[in-house]
Amino acid sequence: MLNTIKKFTSVNSVSGSEEKLRALIEKEILPFVDSVQTDAMGNLIAYKKGENSEKKLMVAAHMDEIGFVVTYIEDNGIIRVSNIGGIRPIASAYHPVVFANGTIGILGIDANTKPEEIKINKLFVDIGAKSRREAEKKVKIGDICAVAPSFKKLAGGRYAAKAFDDRIGCAVAVDAARNAKKTAMDTYYVFTVQEEVGLRGSKPSAFSVMPDYAVAIDVTTADAPGEKGVSVTLGGGAAIKIKDSSVICSKVMVDRLTALAKENNIKHQYEILTAGGTDTASMQLAGAGSVAGCISIPTRYIHSPVEVLDMADVKACSQLLTALIENGIE
Ligand code: CO
Ligand code: ZN
Repeated sequence: MLNTIKKFTSVNSVSGSEEKLRALIEKEILPFVDSVQTDAMGNLIAYKKGENSEKKLMVAAHMDEIGFVVTYIEDNGIIRVSNIGGIRPIASAYHPVVFANGTIGILGIDANTKPEEIKINKLFVDIGAKSRREAEKKVKIGDICAVAPSFKKLAGGRYAAKAFDDRIGCAVAVDAARNAKKTAMDTYYVFTVQEEVGLRGSKPSAFSVMPDYAVAIDVTTADAPGEKGVSVTLGGGAAIKIKDSSVICSKVMVDRLTALAKENNIKHQYEILTAGGTDTASMQLAGAGSVAGCISIPTRYIHSPVEVLDMADVKACSQLLTALIENGIE
Protein backbone atom coordinates (compact mmCIF):
# COMPACT_ATOMS: atom_id res chain seq x y z
CA MET A 1 0.00 0.00 0.00
CA LEU A 2 2.76 2.45 0.98
CA ASN A 3 4.53 1.75 -2.31
CA THR A 4 1.35 2.52 -4.24
CA ILE A 5 0.93 5.77 -2.32
CA LYS A 6 4.55 6.80 -2.98
CA LYS A 7 4.15 6.01 -6.66
CA PHE A 8 0.87 7.94 -7.00
CA THR A 9 2.25 11.03 -5.21
CA SER A 10 5.39 11.09 -7.36
CA VAL A 11 3.76 12.70 -10.41
CA ASN A 12 1.77 15.87 -11.02
CA SER A 13 -1.84 15.48 -12.16
CA VAL A 14 -3.50 18.88 -12.46
CA SER A 15 -7.16 18.92 -13.59
CA GLY A 16 -7.22 18.30 -17.35
CA SER A 17 -3.66 16.91 -17.34
CA GLU A 18 -4.10 13.57 -15.57
CA GLU A 19 -2.24 11.42 -18.17
CA LYS A 20 0.82 10.47 -16.11
CA LEU A 21 -1.15 9.39 -13.07
CA ARG A 22 -3.72 7.57 -15.20
CA ALA A 23 -0.95 5.43 -16.73
CA LEU A 24 0.37 4.55 -13.26
CA ILE A 25 -3.09 3.62 -11.92
CA GLU A 26 -3.94 1.57 -15.00
CA LYS A 27 -0.79 -0.50 -14.58
CA GLU A 28 -1.42 -0.95 -10.87
CA ILE A 29 -5.09 -2.06 -11.05
CA LEU A 30 -4.98 -4.13 -14.26
CA PRO A 31 -4.08 -7.46 -12.55
CA PHE A 32 -7.15 -7.26 -10.28
CA VAL A 33 -9.94 -6.41 -12.76
CA ASP A 34 -11.42 -7.80 -15.98
CA SER A 35 -11.04 -4.76 -18.21
CA VAL A 36 -9.85 -1.16 -18.19
CA GLN A 37 -10.85 1.67 -20.49
CA THR A 38 -10.42 5.44 -20.73
CA ASP A 39 -13.43 7.53 -21.78
CA ALA A 40 -13.53 10.68 -23.92
CA MET A 41 -12.93 13.01 -20.98
CA GLY A 42 -10.04 10.95 -19.62
CA ASN A 43 -11.74 9.06 -16.78
CA LEU A 44 -10.20 5.63 -16.19
CA ILE A 45 -12.89 2.95 -15.76
CA ALA A 46 -11.81 -0.47 -14.46
CA TYR A 47 -14.48 -3.19 -14.44
CA LYS A 48 -14.67 -6.32 -12.31
CA LYS A 49 -17.51 -8.79 -12.86
CA GLY A 50 -19.47 -9.66 -9.72
CA GLU A 51 -20.95 -12.90 -8.41
CA ASN A 52 -24.32 -11.31 -9.01
CA SER A 53 -24.64 -9.04 -12.04
CA GLU A 54 -28.12 -7.69 -11.28
CA LYS A 55 -26.76 -4.59 -9.54
CA LYS A 56 -23.81 -2.31 -10.17
CA LEU A 57 -21.45 -0.65 -7.70
CA MET A 58 -19.37 2.36 -8.73
CA VAL A 59 -16.32 3.33 -6.69
CA ALA A 60 -14.90 6.77 -7.55
CA ALA A 61 -11.65 8.50 -6.61
CA HIS A 62 -10.40 11.61 -8.39
CA MET A 63 -7.04 11.67 -10.14
CA ASP A 64 -6.71 15.43 -10.42
CA GLU A 65 -5.16 18.02 -8.12
CA ILE A 66 -5.18 21.81 -7.98
CA GLY A 67 -2.52 23.70 -9.94
CA PHE A 68 -1.64 26.72 -12.06
CA VAL A 69 -1.84 27.70 -15.73
CA VAL A 70 0.49 30.24 -17.36
CA THR A 71 -1.36 33.38 -18.48
CA TYR A 72 1.42 35.88 -19.24
CA ILE A 73 5.20 36.18 -19.35
CA GLU A 74 6.70 39.55 -18.35
CA ASP A 75 9.66 41.22 -20.06
CA ASN A 76 11.87 40.28 -17.09
CA GLY A 77 11.05 36.56 -17.48
CA ILE A 78 8.61 36.40 -14.57
CA ILE A 79 5.64 34.14 -15.29
CA ARG A 80 2.09 35.05 -14.23
CA VAL A 81 -0.43 32.31 -13.56
CA SER A 82 -4.11 31.68 -12.98
CA ASN A 83 -5.47 29.01 -10.68
CA ILE A 84 -6.93 25.63 -11.59
CA GLY A 85 -9.18 24.64 -8.70
CA GLY A 86 -9.29 25.93 -5.13
CA ILE A 87 -5.76 27.25 -4.66
CA ARG A 88 -4.81 28.66 -1.26
CA PRO A 89 -2.25 31.29 -2.33
CA ILE A 90 -0.54 31.64 1.05
CA ALA A 91 -0.25 27.87 1.46
CA SER A 92 1.21 27.35 -2.03
CA ALA A 93 3.67 30.27 -2.04
CA TYR A 94 7.42 29.92 -1.64
CA HIS A 95 7.40 26.30 -2.74
CA PRO A 96 8.95 24.82 -5.88
CA VAL A 97 6.59 24.09 -8.76
CA VAL A 98 7.21 21.81 -11.72
CA PHE A 99 5.95 21.93 -15.31
CA ALA A 100 5.10 18.91 -17.48
CA ASN A 101 8.43 19.22 -19.35
CA GLY A 102 10.34 19.13 -16.05
CA THR A 103 11.04 22.87 -15.77
CA ILE A 104 11.30 23.87 -12.11
CA GLY A 105 10.20 27.25 -10.79
CA ILE A 106 9.59 28.96 -7.47
CA LEU A 107 6.15 30.28 -6.64
CA GLY A 108 6.53 33.79 -5.20
CA ILE A 109 4.31 36.62 -3.99
CA ASP A 110 4.77 40.23 -5.19
CA ALA A 111 6.89 42.12 -2.66
CA ASN A 112 5.09 44.39 -0.19
CA THR A 113 1.74 42.65 -0.61
CA LYS A 114 -0.38 42.89 2.54
CA PRO A 115 -1.44 39.46 3.86
CA GLU A 116 -5.13 40.14 3.18
CA GLU A 117 -4.29 41.09 -0.43
CA ILE A 118 -2.56 37.83 -1.28
CA LYS A 119 -4.69 36.56 -4.16
CA ILE A 120 -3.80 34.59 -7.27
CA ASN A 121 -2.98 37.80 -9.19
CA LYS A 122 -0.16 38.53 -6.71
CA LEU A 123 1.50 35.16 -7.37
CA PHE A 124 4.21 34.54 -9.94
CA VAL A 125 6.57 31.76 -11.01
CA ASP A 126 10.29 32.47 -11.21
CA ILE A 127 12.06 29.80 -13.30
CA GLY A 128 15.36 31.69 -13.18
CA ALA A 129 14.96 33.21 -16.66
CA LYS A 130 16.35 36.74 -17.10
CA SER A 131 14.03 37.74 -19.95
CA ARG A 132 10.78 36.83 -21.64
CA ARG A 133 12.70 35.34 -24.54
CA GLU A 134 14.71 33.08 -22.21
CA ALA A 135 11.56 32.03 -20.31
CA GLU A 136 9.73 31.21 -23.53
CA LYS A 137 12.34 28.60 -24.39
CA LYS A 138 10.97 26.52 -21.50
CA VAL A 139 7.42 27.69 -20.77
CA LYS A 140 4.61 29.02 -22.92
CA ILE A 141 1.17 30.46 -22.29
CA GLY A 142 -1.27 27.69 -21.37
CA ASP A 143 1.37 25.45 -19.80
CA ILE A 144 0.40 23.85 -16.50
CA CYS A 145 2.40 23.51 -13.31
CA ALA A 146 1.81 22.25 -9.80
CA VAL A 147 3.69 22.20 -6.55
CA ALA A 148 6.59 19.73 -6.85
CA PRO A 149 5.93 16.23 -5.50
CA SER A 150 6.89 15.75 -1.87
CA PHE A 151 6.47 12.72 0.33
CA LYS A 152 7.66 12.77 3.92
CA LYS A 153 7.41 10.30 6.78
CA LEU A 154 6.45 11.89 10.08
CA ALA A 155 6.24 10.37 13.57
CA GLY A 156 3.51 7.99 14.70
CA GLY A 157 2.64 6.42 11.35
CA ARG A 158 1.74 9.78 9.84
CA TYR A 159 2.85 11.10 6.46
CA ALA A 160 2.93 14.42 4.63
CA ALA A 161 2.67 15.04 0.88
CA LYS A 162 1.02 17.35 -1.57
CA ALA A 163 -2.11 16.03 -3.29
CA PHE A 164 -2.97 13.25 -0.86
CA ASP A 165 -6.24 14.85 -2.06
CA ASP A 166 -6.99 12.53 -3.78
CA ARG A 167 -4.04 10.23 -4.54
CA ILE A 168 -4.83 8.56 -1.25
CA GLY A 169 -8.37 7.82 -2.52
CA CYS A 170 -6.89 6.35 -5.72
CA ALA A 171 -4.50 4.22 -3.63
CA VAL A 172 -7.34 3.03 -1.35
CA ALA A 173 -9.47 2.02 -4.37
CA VAL A 174 -6.57 0.09 -5.93
CA ASP A 175 -5.78 -1.50 -2.57
CA ALA A 176 -9.38 -2.67 -2.14
CA ALA A 177 -9.42 -4.11 -5.68
CA ARG A 178 -6.21 -5.95 -4.79
CA ASN A 179 -7.46 -7.26 -1.43
CA ALA A 180 -11.09 -8.16 -2.20
CA LYS A 181 -11.43 -11.95 -2.01
CA LYS A 182 -14.73 -11.79 -3.86
CA THR A 183 -16.78 -9.17 -5.66
CA ALA A 184 -20.47 -9.19 -4.76
CA MET A 185 -21.81 -6.89 -7.50
CA ASP A 186 -20.48 -5.87 -10.88
CA THR A 187 -17.98 -3.26 -9.70
CA TYR A 188 -16.61 -0.27 -11.58
CA TYR A 189 -13.51 1.39 -10.16
CA VAL A 190 -13.55 4.84 -11.70
CA PHE A 191 -10.62 7.24 -11.43
CA THR A 192 -12.12 10.58 -12.34
CA VAL A 193 -10.74 13.74 -13.92
CA GLN A 194 -11.45 17.40 -13.11
CA GLU A 195 -13.03 16.94 -9.67
CA GLU A 196 -11.27 20.02 -8.33
CA VAL A 197 -12.91 22.29 -10.90
CA GLY A 198 -16.50 21.20 -10.19
CA LEU A 199 -16.91 17.41 -10.00
CA ARG A 200 -16.76 17.27 -13.79
CA GLY A 201 -15.28 13.89 -14.76
CA SER A 202 -17.58 11.97 -12.45
CA LYS A 203 -20.69 13.27 -14.24
CA PRO A 204 -20.20 11.54 -17.63
CA SER A 205 -18.53 8.50 -16.07
CA ALA A 206 -21.42 7.96 -13.64
CA PHE A 207 -23.79 8.45 -16.56
CA SER A 208 -22.03 5.70 -18.54
CA VAL A 209 -21.82 3.26 -15.60
CA MET A 210 -25.34 4.03 -14.29
CA PRO A 211 -24.63 2.57 -10.84
CA ASP A 212 -27.28 1.26 -8.43
CA TYR A 213 -24.87 1.84 -5.55
CA ALA A 214 -22.02 4.32 -5.44
CA VAL A 215 -19.24 5.22 -3.06
CA ALA A 216 -16.64 7.95 -3.42
CA ILE A 217 -13.25 7.83 -1.72
CA ASP A 218 -11.86 11.25 -0.91
CA VAL A 219 -10.14 13.23 1.82
CA THR A 220 -11.90 15.30 4.44
CA THR A 221 -10.79 18.01 6.87
CA ALA A 222 -9.53 16.59 10.16
CA ASP A 223 -8.95 18.39 13.44
CA ALA A 224 -5.94 20.57 12.56
CA PRO A 225 -4.94 23.04 15.29
CA GLY A 226 -7.35 25.98 15.22
CA GLU A 227 -10.09 24.06 13.41
CA LYS A 228 -13.23 24.39 15.50
CA GLY A 229 -16.30 22.21 15.36
CA VAL A 230 -14.86 19.66 12.94
CA SER A 231 -16.44 16.23 13.37
CA VAL A 232 -13.44 14.23 12.14
CA THR A 233 -10.23 13.51 14.08
CA LEU A 234 -6.92 12.40 12.59
CA GLY A 235 -6.38 8.82 13.75
CA GLY A 236 -10.09 8.44 14.49
CA GLY A 237 -10.62 5.88 11.73
CA ALA A 238 -12.49 5.74 8.44
CA ALA A 239 -14.90 8.67 8.16
CA ILE A 240 -18.35 7.75 6.91
CA LYS A 241 -19.79 10.80 5.20
CA ILE A 242 -23.18 12.11 6.29
CA LYS A 243 -23.09 15.20 4.08
CA ASP A 244 -20.94 17.81 2.36
CA SER A 245 -21.92 20.89 0.40
CA SER A 246 -22.65 18.82 -2.73
CA VAL A 247 -24.52 15.84 -1.31
CA ILE A 248 -26.62 14.35 1.46
CA CYS A 249 -25.60 10.72 1.56
CA SER A 250 -28.17 7.97 1.29
CA LYS A 251 -29.11 6.59 4.72
CA VAL A 252 -28.98 3.10 3.20
CA MET A 253 -25.28 3.58 2.38
CA VAL A 254 -24.45 5.25 5.71
CA ASP A 255 -26.14 2.40 7.60
CA ARG A 256 -24.48 -0.29 5.47
CA LEU A 257 -21.00 1.18 5.90
CA THR A 258 -21.63 1.49 9.65
CA ALA A 259 -22.76 -2.15 9.89
CA LEU A 260 -19.75 -3.38 7.90
CA ALA A 261 -17.38 -1.35 10.09
CA LYS A 262 -18.92 -2.82 13.25
CA GLU A 263 -18.92 -6.42 11.94
CA ASN A 264 -15.28 -6.16 10.91
CA ASN A 265 -14.04 -4.14 13.91
CA ILE A 266 -12.96 -1.25 11.69
CA LYS A 267 -12.42 2.02 13.56
CA HIS A 268 -14.84 4.58 12.14
CA GLN A 269 -16.34 8.01 12.72
CA TYR A 270 -18.89 10.24 10.98
CA GLU A 271 -18.13 13.17 8.74
CA ILE A 272 -19.98 16.37 7.99
CA LEU A 273 -17.91 18.54 5.63
CA THR A 274 -19.20 22.10 5.79
CA ALA A 275 -17.34 23.43 2.73
CA GLY A 276 -16.44 21.47 -0.38
CA GLY A 277 -18.09 18.81 -2.52
CA THR A 278 -17.21 15.33 -3.77
CA ASP A 279 -17.87 13.01 -6.71
CA THR A 280 -20.52 11.41 -4.48
CA ALA A 281 -22.94 14.04 -5.77
CA SER A 282 -22.46 13.23 -9.46
CA MET A 283 -23.03 9.54 -8.83
CA GLN A 284 -26.10 10.13 -6.70
CA LEU A 285 -27.68 12.23 -9.47
CA ALA A 286 -26.71 10.11 -12.49
CA GLY A 287 -29.60 8.79 -14.56
CA ALA A 288 -32.49 7.87 -12.29
CA GLY A 289 -30.21 8.26 -9.25
CA SER A 290 -28.18 5.88 -7.09
CA VAL A 291 -27.77 4.94 -3.44
CA ALA A 292 -24.64 7.00 -2.83
CA GLY A 293 -22.19 7.54 0.01
CA CYS A 294 -18.55 8.30 0.66
CA ILE A 295 -15.67 6.95 2.71
CA SER A 296 -13.47 9.89 3.69
CA ILE A 297 -9.83 9.84 4.71
CA PRO A 298 -9.13 12.27 7.57
CA THR A 299 -6.52 14.80 6.37
CA ARG A 300 -4.98 18.00 7.72
CA TYR A 301 -3.91 21.06 5.71
CA ILE A 302 -5.85 20.07 2.56
CA HIS A 303 -4.80 21.95 -0.61
CA SER A 304 -1.40 22.77 0.85
CA PRO A 305 1.93 21.22 -0.23
CA VAL A 306 2.05 19.30 3.07
CA GLU A 307 -1.25 17.51 3.57
CA VAL A 308 -0.98 15.16 6.56
CA LEU A 309 -2.68 11.84 7.16
CA ASP A 310 -2.44 8.81 9.43
CA MET A 311 -1.77 5.40 7.86
CA ALA A 312 -4.05 3.70 10.41
CA ASP A 313 -6.96 5.75 9.00
CA VAL A 314 -5.94 4.92 5.44
CA LYS A 315 -5.91 1.21 6.26
CA ALA A 316 -9.31 1.48 7.97
CA CYS A 317 -10.75 3.14 4.84
CA SER A 318 -9.29 0.42 2.63
CA GLN A 319 -10.71 -2.33 4.89
CA LEU A 320 -14.16 -0.72 4.89
CA LEU A 321 -14.22 -0.37 1.10
CA THR A 322 -12.99 -3.97 0.73
CA ALA A 323 -15.80 -5.18 3.00
CA LEU A 324 -18.36 -3.33 0.88
CA ILE A 325 -16.99 -4.77 -2.38
CA GLU A 326 -16.92 -8.30 -0.94
CA ASN A 327 -20.33 -8.26 0.71
CA GLY A 328 -22.41 -5.78 -1.26
CA ILE A 329 -25.40 -4.06 0.27
CA GLU A 330 -27.53 -6.91 1.66
CO1 CO B 1 -9.40 18.83 -3.30
ZN1 ZN C 1 -10.56 15.61 -3.23
